[in-house]
Amino acid sequence: MRIFVDTANFDEIKKAYDMGILSGVTTNPSLIAKETGVRYEDRIREIAEYCKGVESISAEVFGETAEEMVKEGLAFHEIAPNVTVKLPMTTDGLRACRILTDKGIMTNVTLVFTASQALLAGRAGATYVSPFIGRLEDVSKGSGVELIGKIAAIFREHDIKTNILAASIRSVDHVEDAALAGAHVGTMPYKVIESLTKHPKTAEGLASFAADTQKYKSNLK
Ligand code: E4P
Repeated sequence: MRIFVDTANFDEIKKAYDMGILSGVTTNPSLIAKETGVRYEDRIREIAEYCKGVESISAEVFGETAEEMVKEGLAFHEIAPNVTVKLPMTTDGLRACRILTDKGIMTNVTLVFTASQALLAGRAGATYVSPFIGRLEDVSKGSGVELIGKIAAIFREHDIKTNILAASIRSVDHVEDAALAGAHVGTMPYKVIESLTKHPKTAEGLASFAADTQKYKSNLK
């Protein structure tokens, strides 16, 4: 499973990219709203310039009609070829997805909570489909990961090439469960990426190696 960071905060994006593990970035209207005074297209441009070589940077449309979404999507795509147009799971969103896909532009259908919605996104030619694990598990434990498994089975059975992008990830367990269930990509906040590096035994080992390093150095004196 490839790792995307789910934030519009440039410092967090830089830290995740510099770690050498990042394959992409996802943003949404709520995340850009936290970045006071920053224009969405300017932030997407900054991300594209800094994160050389990542496969995808999702920028979400604000419009509600397919025509508005296509117009915004074309403008986002002008920024860089790996800017992926994030579209809502609505009939207009699917229509915009088909139009943009046919123009060779990458798309990400978001706010997906059922396997049927994912099937529709696949049929509209989406590059990515984003099932929201955390928000589903808020209402029923286990359901988010189960959904990833269902979508993976359907896509395998019907040879649908759309990437499953597990979204709304909140914990290390979500990351591991989504990867095992067949998600191609997981997008997660920077703090979750950081927590993937941690384990109590790693911390314990680091402390004892640091103490022994001091012992080793004083033995040489
Ligand atoms: C990513 O594409 C989604 O917008 C995001 O993962 C939603 O996460 P949240 O449920 O934590 O807001």
